[in-house]
Amino acid sequence: MMTKMFNLISHPLIQHKLTFMRNEETNTDNFRRLLREISQMLVYEATRDLPTEMATIKTPLTVMSSPIISGKKLCLVSILRAGNGMLDGMLDVLPAARVGHIGLYRDPQTLEPVEYYMKVPDDISERLVIVVDPMLATGNSAIAALNRLKECGASAIKYVCLLAAPEGLAALQAAHPDVSVTTAALDERLNDHGYIVPGLGDAGDRMFGTK
Ligand code: URA
Repeated sequence: MMTKMFNLISHPLIQHKLTFMRNEETNTDNFRRLLREISQMLVYEATRDLPTEMATIKTPLTVMSSPIISGKKLCLVSILRAGNGMLDGMLDVLPAARVGHIGLYRDPQTLEPVEYYMKVPDDISERLVIVVDPMLATGNSAIAALNRLKECGASAIKYVCLLAAPEGLAALQAAHPDVSVTTAALDERLNDHGYIVPGLGDAGDRMFGTK
């Protein structure tokens, strides 16, 4: 199957849940639950092109040939801290995946990413890596994370987010044209503070109740 490099997932269930996430009246526990549910569906779409091979099995009635996933094993990489909100839903669907973390914060003045933590599996170069962060805003953190993962040997990488700004998507695609992007929405723009508009505010604050 051909890999699409940009996947906007307009499934009604995702769009419905996303509307509730955007609503400022949605509280922390609902926000977290909705992100988990949407993440299950986003990773389902992002893994549509995984290769399969036929395995011979025995059902209670007969022997049959049936597909199983083949190819590279998976590694999810969360961009801290908001990326963690997508991990549980994805691990519901991909329970055997390994998990890495990259800690980057945005310098509030320059909006440039500053790395403070990185831990990924030693065999990351042999895995299909799915990088997760709900908000693709300027793209600076995403690009820095992908640069670091490639330095560690990762070569097969997908990026999954909840919302993307056109500016961030363009920057990411220019810097890493080999990385497919899956998102639930492409919003209008970034504001002067690097927030996605209309967006949903600060994803980390909303999922962890820190505001
Ligand atoms: N990070 C967020 O949490 N929200 C935005 O709108 C942009 C970056």
